[in-house]
Amino acid sequence: MNILALESSCDETACSVIANGTEIRSNVVATSSSMHEQWGGIVPEVAARQQLSFILPVIKEALKPLQKNEKEHIRSVIEKNVDAIAVTVGPGLIGSLLIGIETAKALAFITKKPIIPVNHVLAHMYANFLHDPSCMVKNKKTKTKIQDPQTKTYEPILFPAMSLVVSGGHTELFLMRSEKDISWIGGTIDDAAGEAFDKSARLLGFGNKGGFAIQEAAARRAADVSPVFTIRLPRPLLHDETLNFSFSGLKTAIQREWNKHNEHANNLVCAFAYEIQESITDVLVKKTIQAAEMHGVRSILISGGVSSNIRLRQKFLHALSEKQNTMRFHCPPPSLCTDNAAFIGSYAYFRGIPSDWHTLTAIPDLRVSDI
Ligand code: KG4
Ligand code: ZN
Repeated sequence: MNILALESSCDETACSVIANGTEIRSNVVATSSSMHEQWGGIVPEVAARQQLSFILPVIKEALKPLQKNEKEHIRSVIEKNVDAIAVTVGPGLIGSLLIGIETAKALAFITKKPIIPVNHVLAHMYANFLHDPSCMVKNKKTKTKIQDPQTKTYEPILFPAMSLVVSGGHTELFLMRSEKDISWIGGTIDDAAGEAFDKSARLLGFGNKGGFAIQEAAARRAADVSPVFTIRLPRPLLHDETLNFSFSGLKTAIQREWNKHNEHANNLVCAFAYEIQESITDVLVKKTIQAAEMHGVRSILISGGVSSNIRLRQKFLHALSEKQNTMRFHCPPPSLCTDNAAFIGSYAYFRGIPSDWHTLTAIPDLRVSDI
């Protein structure tokens, strides 16, 4: 079953074709992120305008692997090769969401294909179910395992699983009893981890480059054999028994530490980046493993933009090996952690419910607990 998926909730415009919920046949992403640089944050009107100019070229590009020849019209490609159309309906920016939704509705109408509305946050975790057939080979010895150059190995997810979704706007924990059966069990009571990365990145002078810039600067500090500065920040709710996260106090603590220094030399900036990353990743790892142990799961899954963080992945692997835990750890390749339409297509396959295109609309504040 082939699903054509569209994602346009924020500043990325993405389209993907997914076979049987797991196989990526195409995955195209365009972004307007650089256009927001000068404003210190995403400008919703600019993002929506860019969605409009990107959406058709992105769809055409994503359909190319299915096209018989260059002249074949996208309507005919969809009619012949696609079984359903999936689209993000929320949460997100209303102007951006509407571009994807109205395009999906038009495509569904003209091709008479079912349309499946998708919750973007829940869909993130399905990045863990995706494989790119172009980068896989069968392991000849075991015959069962498949080697993936990006994630090293691919092993099936064992249920129940604990799933951490950690993105720009969300830090949520879900218990997955199967591909279909998900319960929300905890999350942030204020800011998301990604928001803490993004706001810190702005304070440190990295503009809109967010967590990735923090990761790079932190690596420079880690490589420094005799660091001049050592910064110490709190680990919010680390020893709290609930499955709540909180990152807004951390932001204030960072600002307070930052204000203690009159000059912000390069090595001081790297020392801040290092400690910010340590603080956020310590909390994410500890709480997720705590939740996993509480529920006796067999796998841990991470997803969302922050899950591409290298230190976070290292810490999960280290913590699980220290505990000699047999839980499997899954993380998507970085390109599938940040926003794309491949995970939208995967979610639609496993959990999607076709809807009437007449009533389909954007829900900017769609909640994760509305499952
Ligand atoms: O999932 P995503 O692309 O968009 C949302 O749905 O929010 O996540 C974006 C978030 C941003 O906060 C960005 O700073 C963060 O992911 N991010 C990272 C890294 N790459 C992206 N955070 C930490 N380390 C990274 N390497
Ligand atoms: Zn996202």
